[in-house]
Amino acid sequence: MNQDAMKKAVAEAALEEIRGQINKDSVLGVGTGSTANYFIEALGELKGSFRGAVASSEETAKRLKARDIELFELNDVDSLPFYIDGADEANEHLHLIKGGGAALTREKIIAAVAREFICICDESKKVDILGQFPLPVEVIPMARSYVARKLAGLGGQPVYRQGVVTDNGNVILDVHNLKITDPKKLENDINAIVGVVTNGLFANRGADLLLLGTPDGVKTSS
Ligand code: 5RP
Repeated sequence: MNQDAMKKAVAEAALEEIRGQINKDSVLGVGTGSTANYFIEALGELKGSFRGAVASSEETAKRLKARDIELFELNDVDSLPFYIDGADEANEHLHLIKGGGAALTREKIIAAVAREFICICDESKKVDILGQFPLPVEVIPMARSYVARKLAGLGGQPVYRQGVVTDNGNVILDVHNLKITDPKKLENDINAIVGVVTNGLFANRGADLLLLGTPDGVKTSS
C-alpha cells in the first residue's frame, strides 16, 4: 500500500467513526491538507446526514463548496461534535505538529471548539519525539525578525517560508532542529513571544483519536 492509499484508508475510517454519531444538526470541523482532502471526498457519502461544515482554510472551504456541503462561520456555530484533520507528526500521547499547509491557526481554533479531534495520518507521521518536521510558527509580518531571534534563543533554527501568506495575512517561520521533549511547555513558551499568532504544536489540545494508516490496515490510538 502506498502513502496515498494509506491516507485514503484513514479518511474512510474517519467517516466510519463519525457515521453513527452525527445527525441533521451536526456541523463538522474539517481540516486542511492532502489527507483531509481524501476525507472531504469521502464526506460526500454522508451528505444529508449532517448540517454542514466549518473549514480550517480557504482551500478546504473551496473543496467543501464544490461538493455542495454548506459552510458555516465558526462564530455562528455553538458546538462541533468532531474535527477531522491530518498532521505532520504525531507522538504516542497524540501530541501533534501541524501547519505544513500553513493553516495552523484556524486549525487550532477549530480543534479548541470541537468535542472530539480525530487525527488522520499515514504511518510516516508517527514519531517517538516531535521535531524532525520543522515546527511552523505563524507570525505577524512586522515581528518576523524579532520572533526569529527569540526562536533561535529557544534553540531552534527558524527559516522564513518564502512566498507564503496565511489566510490570516501573516507569515510562517519554520523552526528546524528542535528536539521537543516537553511539547506543552514549548507550545506555551513560543506562544508567549510577542508577535507570534500561534505555533504548530498541538499538545495542550492534542488529538483525542489517532487513525494511523499502515500497510496492515488502520491502527487506532486514543
Ligand atoms: C495543514 C496541516 C496538515 O494537516 C498537515 O500539513 C498534514 O498534511 P498532509 O495530510 O497533506 O500530509 O497541518 O496546515
